[in-house]
Amino acid sequence: MHTCPVLDWEAAWHAALYGPSGFFARGEKPSSHFRTSPLVGPELAEALLTLLSRVDACLGFPPVVDFVDVGAGGGELAFAVRSLASGSLASRLRVTAVELGPPVELPGVEWATSIPSCVGLLVGHEWLDSVPCPVVTGPSADPWIERWWPSLEDGSMAEVGAPRDAAWAAAVASVRGAALAIDYGHLESSRRFTLTGYREGRQVEPVFDGSCDVTAHVAFDSCAEAAGGDWVLVSQRDALRALGVVGAAAGSGWDWLESAARAGRVAELRDPAGLGGFGWLLHGCGVAVADLMPALPPWRPDPAGFPVEE
Ligand SMILES: C[S@@+](CC[C@H](N)C(=O)[O-])C[C@H]1O[C@@H](n2cnc3c(N)ncnc32)[C@H](O)[C@@H]1O
Repeated sequence: MHTCPVLDWEAAWHAALYGPSGFFARGEKPSSHFRTSPLVGPELAEALLTLLSRVDACLGFPPVVDFVDVGAGGGELAFAVRSLASGSLASRLRVTAVELGPPVELPGVEWATSIPSCVGLLVGHEWLDSVPCPVVTGPSADPWIERWWPSLEDGSMAEVGAPRDAAWAAAVASVRGAALAIDYGHLESSRRFTLTGYREGRQVEPVFDGSCDVTAHVAFDSCAEAAGGDWVLVSQRDALRALGVVGAAAGSGWDWLESAARAGRVAELRDPAGLGGFGWLLHGCGVAVADLMPALPPWRPDPAGFPVEE
């Protein structure tokens, strides 16, 4: 019997990013292709240090406290956290950048290719969107689709989020403290096919030849359930304010210039139609989420569509 070859989307996606000449494996760094929050300025790292100091207190100030940055790219976030840490936390802080692509030499940052056990805070910043998935066309009997994308119409395409669920559950299981995924995503009520490519600052057709990043929105609801435990899903806009990242131009002369520049960066990070619309999925791991973050409105996906990578 003659059968048509079936494209193994997950394998092709994986090879395109992480195979021998894959986009990230050969050393392409996100900073050359799109703008992420760690590249805007130090404010995201400031917020994460505030969160880490709350985790540290909940854990009773352990002798070594970890900040683990999974999918660290060029290590910008890890390095900013290392550089901005102060006081007792700084002297006990161990910063690990987990990355499949080549490491970058940065003082005070250790590099790893797999997730270590973590006593502190693990962050996956725009990590899960780059975890390859199978792609199916409806109708589909795939169990993940049946559970999380029951509205999939005949002939429509869908990314199967099961590999992200497994990756996130494993990451959360490695932590005592808190784990945070920051990404663009959707919920069951707003599922849509989002596979796309990025190259040199432009959104492009997703081709699996290693010439571009290939990414798709994260199904936050399924990731949250897979990892389980105590969790909240809030917007970056709300989370940054709750962690004290605010900015307004003030003073005069040089002070005014500095505060105005900071206010501009904070506005970019909190823009609800942009980076501020990203979801923060925060799990407490032996720690109550309510001790880390005040109650905030639940995150809702931006109906306008694809965020904001430039
Ligand atoms: C979209 S980039 C984000 C980089 C950085 N976090 C930022 O926000 O600027 C995703 C990164 O995750 C890395 N990555 C994907 N899966 C990984 C894994 N299982 N372990 C380590 N790194 C991974 C990729 O190589 C890539 O550098």
